Amino acid sequence: MYCTKNITDDLYWIGGNDRRLALFENIFPVPNGVSYNAYVLLDEKTVLLDTVDKAVGEQFFENLTHVLGERDLDYVIINHMEPDHCAMLKEVIFRYPKVQVVCNAKTADIIKQFFKIETDALIVKENDTLCTGKHTFTFLMAPMVHWPEVMVTYDTTDKVLYSADAFGTFGAINGNLFADEVDFETKWLDDARRYYTNIVGKYGAQVQALLKKASKVDIEMICPLHGPVWRTNIGWFVEKYQKWSTYEPEDQGVMIAYASIYGNTENAANVLASRLADKGLKNIAMYDVSVTHPSVVVSEAFRASHLVFASPTYNGGIFPNMETVLLDLKAHNLQKRTVAFMQNGTWAATSGRQMNEMISGMKEMTVLEPAITIKSALNDNQSEEIDAMVDAILDSMEL
Ligand code: FEO
Repeated sequence: MYCTKNITDDLYWIGGNDRRLALFENIFPVPNGVSYNAYVLLDEKTVLLDTVDKAVGEQFFENLTHVLGERDLDYVIINHMEPDHCAMLKEVIFRYPKVQVVCNAKTADIIKQFFKIETDALIVKENDTLCTGKHTFTFLMAPMVHWPEVMVTYDTTDKVLYSADAFGTFGAINGNLFADEVDFETKWLDDARRYYTNIVGKYGAQVQALLKKASKVDIEMICPLHGPVWRTNIGWFVEKYQKWSTYEPEDQGVMIAYASIYGNTENAANVLASRLADKGLKNIAMYDVSVTHPSVVVSEAFRASHLVFASPTYNGGIFPNMETVLLDLKAHNLQKRTVAFMQNGTWAATSGRQMNEMISGMKEMTVLEPAITIKSALNDNQSEEIDAMVDAILDSMEL
């Protein structure tokens, strides 16, 4: 049966939810599922904004058919050509042969690459407009938020921003479409941060460019391609994007990521965390990189101001799961963090130096020296070393 949501008098959500998917993009776990949002506007002309992933294609067409009723589809605006949104485009064109595709030139090329079809698309550029009756759309290019062809569409009539991947989040829509109908800060923010940092975290400068453009228009609603629709408290979410895209930490706090083979490096991490807590630090986060997905650690590294990495030396290098995390942080362009290291080595500890080299190659990172070296297991006579690291961390915090 159709499963649509009314957003305004003439605007409908016609997307779908996938709670079976194990890995979004075949890499990111989505235990809360994911939504693929598409929207239909019933103006003098009918307008579809993006499509969906093939996983929810059947639901999408049932929704689209229901909302259109007897009407034909006049326009489909493509904001982002990644297949999690546009897998159904070819089928839309097949079912509605009179539909006019509206996209930019880069998108038109990618349509050809994926579908091997020529579309007689209406090619739009920055600030071009399209009037569909009561509504007038303006198109704003948003390259690399998340792919080079991305654009966002602004409905100047109702002040709605169709924001593509921006302002999206992992997590299926559980009946409540609007962000103000859920406890977003408690139940969704971690997923939103993990989505942002892992999908577009690398492209902070490009997100900043989009935020600058968006700040020049009056926005009353944001309709992203994943997750809830925003109609209140938009400034709160924009402020999160402001922090994430400038690589400023959200919290003055510590995230400890450790790898441990027999539990001795883990013990050192626990001792450090415990003593930080003894000195009054709250909300310390700890992750074993062998059991926590790297996307979680990346997200947490974007949140916290201070990061501690503890790793055994393994094959003369960094423990593989830790190396993956550090490579991921570099790939996502993390900056502006204060970092400390703990290294373990039964005969030749080198992981600390190698982790330091990786982190030091990133922008505006402050390394707290010295690293703590564990020889097989932390020794009781290293108590002062731990306390010195605790003090160095706390002294460098803006509490
Ligand atoms: Fe949700 Fe970049 O696609």
